[in-house]
Amino acid sequence: MKTYKIACIPGDGIGKEVVPAGQTALDTLARKLGTFRFEFSSFDWGGDYYRQHGIMMPEDGLKDLRDKDAILFGSAGDPHIPDHITLWGLRLKICQGFDQYANVRPTRILPGIDAPLKRCRPEDLNWVIVRENSEGEYAGVGGRVHQGHPTEVATDVAMHTRTGVERIMRFAFGLARSRPRKLLTVVTKSNAQRHAMVMWDEIAVQISKEFPDVKWDKELVDAMTARMVNRPASIDTVVATNLHADVLSDLAAALAGSLGIAPTGNIDPERRYPSMFEPIHGSAFDIMGKGLANPIGTFWSCVMMLEHLGEQAAADKLMEVIESVTADPKLHTGDLGGQATTAQVTSAVCQRINGA
Ligand code: IPM
Ligand code: MG
Repeated sequence: MKTYKIACIPGDGIGKEVVPAGQTALDTLARKLGTFRFEFSSFDWGGDYYRQHGIMMPEDGLKDLRDKDAILFGSAGDPHIPDHITLWGLRLKICQGFDQYANVRPTRILPGIDAPLKRCRPEDLNWVIVRENSEGEYAGVGGRVHQGHPTEVATDVAMHTRTGVERIMRFAFGLARSRPRKLLTVVTKSNAQRHAMVMWDEIAVQISKEFPDVKWDKELVDAMTARMVNRPASIDTVVATNLHADVLSDLAAALAGSLGIAPTGNIDPERRYPSMFEPIHGSAFDIMGKGLANPIGTFWSCVMMLEHLGEQAAADKLMEVIESVTADPKLHTGDLGGQATTAQVTSAVCQRINGA
């Protein structure tokens, strides 16, 4: 029987609650289907590890992940550790170390979810945002000099390479082509940022020629926020820079009803390295340790993982179960206005996987 080796990194905050929930769902699914199994290895990296060792994960930790088929990640963030340390020391170390250059963020209004837009029907909002995940504003280039003096200078230089933009553009056009509407919106800010963003626009034109069957248009990122609210049905697949897509994907998740639901995949499309799947909600310290976290974002991330592993039937089954669970308001967690606990939602998902 096929065995998938999955590295689990719960990280901080509610990551420690939702990742085990994801493992339970995956295990239940594998047992039910009987055609593959999972072998999980857990890594205790994150804030607590930092307090003990002064680093978020071992210097050479990537070698422990290298032979895995995929990574299930919870969240990184700790109220007592600066955010840039938790981010760069763990999540970005993995994303950049494994060149997971395509960050894929699907958004839909799932059944039973009360989304905030008045005139938006569930079928109007079915998007996938593709976030460039290896460079741009997150390249880490920059520095600070003369700290504390009036002459202090700080720079964060956005770095966009032709290789980096061409490969994310090609990935996004390909993803758009695989979806029924074959529609891509390329988001930049090429009026104000007149170098790299203009290169993005040019590369979009160039790559579009390889995909004559994909309809595409361009939008400036500020106008895109308004379009997402006012004309959601005009959007299908979106590609944008690391930072622009970071912002747009939070807006997308909120418009779909909750950040607690939204999944993401940090993908190496060339499959040289394991890809990493995670809910986008973050560590949510206000509710951590109480069993109140919404595990749906993690379950949906598991769906993306199954798709990546080529287990499409299993992915479809889990997604169907997720939708049947969100359809029941009694199974809504606090972020959705309900009172269900992580454990209740997880056991409902497992029961339905087992056909109960
Ligand atoms: C995300 C998150 C991260 C990001 C945070 C936690 C640094 O917001 O995955 O969208 O900005 O990339
Ligand atoms: Mg974000």
